Amino acid sequence: MALKRSKITGVGKYLPDYVMTNEELEKHVDTNDEWIRSRTGIAERRILKDPDKATSFMATNAAEDALKDADIDAEEIDLIIVATVTPDYLFPATAALVQKRIGAKKAFGFDLSAACSGFLFALSTAGSMIESGRIKKALVIGADKMSSIMDFTDRTTCILFGDGAGAVVLEETDEDEGIVDFVQYTDGDENCTLYQPAGGSLNPATEETVKNKMHYIRQDGRTVFKKATEGMADVSLEIMKKNNLSPDDVAWLVPHQANLRIINATARRMGLSEDKVMININKYGNTTAATIPLCLYDWKDKLNKGDKIILSAFGGGLTWGAIYLKWSK
Ligand code: COA
Repeated sequence: MALKRSKITGVGKYLPDYVMTNEELEKHVDTNDEWIRSRTGIAERRILKDPDKATSFMATNAAEDALKDADIDAEEIDLIIVATVTPDYLFPATAALVQKRIGAKKAFGFDLSAACSGFLFALSTAGSMIESGRIKKALVIGADKMSSIMDFTDRTTCILFGDGAGAVVLEETDEDEGIVDFVQYTDGDENCTLYQPAGGSLNPATEETVKNKMHYIRQDGRTVFKKATEGMADVSLEIMKKNNLSPDDVAWLVPHQANLRIINATARRMGLSEDKVMININKYGNTTAATIPLCLYDWKDKLNKGDKIILSAFGGGLTWGAIYLKWSK
């Protein structure tokens, strides 16, 4: 049987213009630039200020950018997956709004909720559909307007996140390239170490939920930090072993950008030197589902055909995973 894989043929992004620095956050909460940089690696993040614009706006722009990069028309796309925890609405799906706006007439689409692992889970889902032969071309988008669920009076969370979107076009290939393997996990977080308490069917919006700030992110930072460090490092090592990859074989680690210390621990465990690790958390903070495609975008001129790349993420859910791919552009 002929080999069938899926490969990335285009990468796009959208970042809001507004730059919120650590100094600006010092005006809202009791924090300082030195603390934020040393504990997280973040210097600034982008914020989508326009109240009339939301995740679908950023996702649409990133999608159009990726289509241009892949040099294909929106009408050729079969599937759109938007990974997000900040959809414009609970329904319709953000993917449906993107489908309409880009004119992807024959595409079906849906949103995928796996928090910071969302882009990975979406990429492996779209890739598997392509490998099955059911579809040929997909748009995979990671987009989050985290500022819509950030409490700018809570210093333990508001310093961490930012807004942004990244997108890739995924197409079928019969060569030894593209997505080779993935390993993914979920461990239901009944203790709610990282979550948004209200807005779903358990706690629909009421005066009470608003008053109690239940529509904002809440997290037990220390617990999440520990689990993320273990989870991302373990799964990255697991996919290397599974595919007989030595540290020399790996050209790049594309880690979810939650905390520089988590990224460094993952790279150390994989035996990778710093120059093989994509890091842009300093500029954008944690953009949740957008971090990995934003890294691919920022590094795309440095990637060579055949480069062996590990994508790795950890997020709410709890969810975590890694993808091994061979760069194909
Ligand atoms: N500025 C200044 N001080 C702060 C602060 C801030 N923004 N936020 C917390 N502190 C204080 C705490 O109150 C605490 O003070 P105390 O010792 O007097 O109690 C002290 O700093 C240390 O807090 P701690 O929570 O132990 O810090 P930390 O080193 O664990 O860093 C995070 C906090 C949030 C940066 C870190 O836990 C983290 O990154 N967690 C994972 C978050 C994440 O990745 N979430 C997304 C999932 S992918």
